[in-house]
Amino acid sequence: MAIIVNKEKIFTLNTQNTTYQMYVNEDGVLFHSYYGARVGECDLSYASHKPNWNAAFSSNPRGKGYSHNHTSEELSVFGVGDFRLSALALVNHDGTTGAEPVYHSYKILKGKYQIKGMPAFYGDEGETLVITLKDKAYDIYFHMYYGVFEENDLITRALVIENKTNSEIKLNKALSVTLDLQGGTYDMLHFYGAHMRERLLERTRITHLTSTVSSVRGASSHTQNPFVIVCDKSATEEFGSAYGIGLVYSGNFVICAEKDQHETTRVVAGINPEGFEYTVAPNETFETPEVAMVYSNEGFAKLSNNYHKAIRNNLCRGKYKNARRPVLINNWEGTYFDFNADKLVAMAKDAGKLGVELFVMDDGWFGHRDDDRSSLGDWFVNEEKLQGSLDNLVKRINAEGLQFGIWFEPECISEDSELFKAHPDYRLAIPNRDPQLSRHQFVLDMTRKEVRDNIYDQMVEVLNSANITYVKWDFNRHLTDIYSAALPKERQGEIYHRYMLGVYELLERLTSNFPNILFESCSGGGGRFDLGMLYYMPQAWTSDNTDAIDRLKIQYGTSFAYPVRAMGAHVSVCPNHGNARVTPLNTRGNVAYFGTYGLELDITKMTDEEKAEIKRQIAEFKEYYDLIQYGDYYRLLSPYTPDESRYCAWEVVSEDKSEALVCTVAYDSKCTVQPELLKVKGLDQNKMYRINGSEETYLGSALMNIGFWLEYDHLSYASRLYHITLA
Ligand code: GLA
Repeated sequence: MAIIVNKEKIFTLNTQNTTYQMYVNEDGVLFHSYYGARVGECDLSYASHKPNWNAAFSSNPRGKGYSHNHTSEELSVFGVGDFRLSALALVNHDGTTGAEPVYHSYKILKGKYQIKGMPAFYGDEGETLVITLKDKAYDIYFHMYYGVFEENDLITRALVIENKTNSEIKLNKALSVTLDLQGGTYDMLHFYGAHMRERLLERTRITHLTSTVSSVRGASSHTQNPFVIVCDKSATEEFGSAYGIGLVYSGNFVICAEKDQHETTRVVAGINPEGFEYTVAPNETFETPEVAMVYSNEGFAKLSNNYHKAIRNNLCRGKYKNARRPVLINNWEGTYFDFNADKLVAMAKDAGKLGVELFVMDDGWFGHRDDDRSSLGDWFVNEEKLQGSLDNLVKRINAEGLQFGIWFEPECISEDSELFKAHPDYRLAIPNRDPQLSRHQFVLDMTRKEVRDNIYDQMVEVLNSANITYVKWDFNRHLTDIYSAALPKERQGEIYHRYMLGVYELLERLTSNFPNILFESCSGGGGRFDLGMLYYMPQAWTSDNTDAIDRLKIQYGTSFAYPVRAMGAHVSVCPNHGNARVTPLNTRGNVAYFGTYGLELDITKMTDEEKAEIKRQIAEFKEYYDLIQYGDYYRLLSPYTPDESRYCAWEVVSEDKSEALVCTVAYDSKCTVQPELLKVKGLDQNKMYRINGSEETYLGSALMNIGFWLEYDHLSYASRLYHITLA
């Protein structure tokens, strides 16, 4: 049983390897006792408070008069005596603040809960515990949802606040989780970046200062990712305690961690309270986004693999959740805005001969868009540029044996567009101020149903007009000018969140009405690569940076939470358009294999030799597809330690441990290249293996503890694959 409730009101959530425990004290307060490695059936409540600590306060939370500031409550509230990071701040109808939630009831539901209008992990194999607390003074209910997925050690949480008073209440802060970790010294791994260098890894000590990872951009952003790992200060890939905290949300977020005055580490996470104020009317509810937590006491690799599996099986949906996805060619870096139908068909023709299965027409096919200054919002085909109808172009591409995909940027509007002429009020703009342009465009007010309906109808018309099997959903700027003509002045603080709910609603409508379309999310590269988006679209463009060497760090950082199968990765030309670096074509291929693998170039301009190499790559990628996409993923050599090894390396291992694929990429050539042994992971230690069909055989434990000699590579950026199979 994943959820155990005993008569002392001790609530225990068990997964295969972890335990999460809470209990209700005599006063009805719900305390957090423990989260970590699995422990047997016992009462862990003693861990939630510090004994005999200070006579001035009873620190025994089972007794009366305990101090909120010295205990660990599941729902930490601002303004009622807990001076640390809090998850909830509200104002009652009479202007009073704070809440004192006490136990009301609980229920256990079969299967995993879902959240109204928001993405969440799902699955019949999950179980749900709902603990309902009620404020002592007002009829405000706090439904604490816990989802338990035993197999992947995943525990999810979300909070639903229900206003049963006769008046409105205001939320100034409504986070999804408070998590206290007693004692110990912890680090936080977070994934920061910018456009073209997303999800770079930074490891910082959690000290008595608050460490904050956040976004106020209206999107999860390139700058920070809504996922962190809080770990033992000595945790590594294979050893130590590590807690993953990932928000299933794509908008403004915050994840904060600090050590309190008594050395307890507290983490809170949820919607960023900055710019947030939400009114909950009588008999209405407010749902926080879900937080997805995985604990591992075997370091980061185990944690990552549990996230990867849970995302693949219990977050991504639709036809392409498990189906093999087509190898695509996207024309963006190949043509930018400069194309017509003949050019695209010529590309498709050459690509088809090499094994490419899907042609994606990127930005520039609609309105009169020949650069990035116009036409967003005008989702009708530029028939002059496409030399006829979209249907005609798609038929020509289909005739070359390729499926057809198309690019949209549904959330934005250009001033130079028909949509803007007809509906200038559709953009987010503050009255009496000039709204801010970014990439020459504005953001549509997605809080408004009529705006979403307009975009939906236009998209449906395009998607029904031809045989389209793939959509790239882009979002190339962030939210400013936060004012909605459709909301009263008291509700302007709801826009950021309502914007996200609007986007999710549109995505739900579109993806469920077009179940055969593969959707890929994108946001100026990887600016909205998060668990929320993966619920609607099973893959995301990882970065506009397609340089294989820069991608080592980008894909490395991304892999801590997100599976290979979600990472859009394409081979592009050299010198690279972003940084002018020249890398071998096979290196570019190898790096893209550990993502979705596709092409982003003008194939008609490639030499016969290059085309032959691409053909080889596509065949090789298809051969290794299942191993790469469903295998356990191990980071072997970090791209952050070039002084320790000449290589960056990673590996995938099949679930039955019968085969593995290792990829190495060398950095800049150094004069004194030393032979290197590479240790692999995840094999059966008692079985014999061969490497690339070698005569020599190796014991699994030898490969994992001593390693094998890497082939000699003296060229900069050389890359190799090592296929390890049972002997
Ligand atoms: C963004 C995307 C690119 C491309 C362009 C088109 O930058 O990340 O892949 O689609 O927009 O404008």
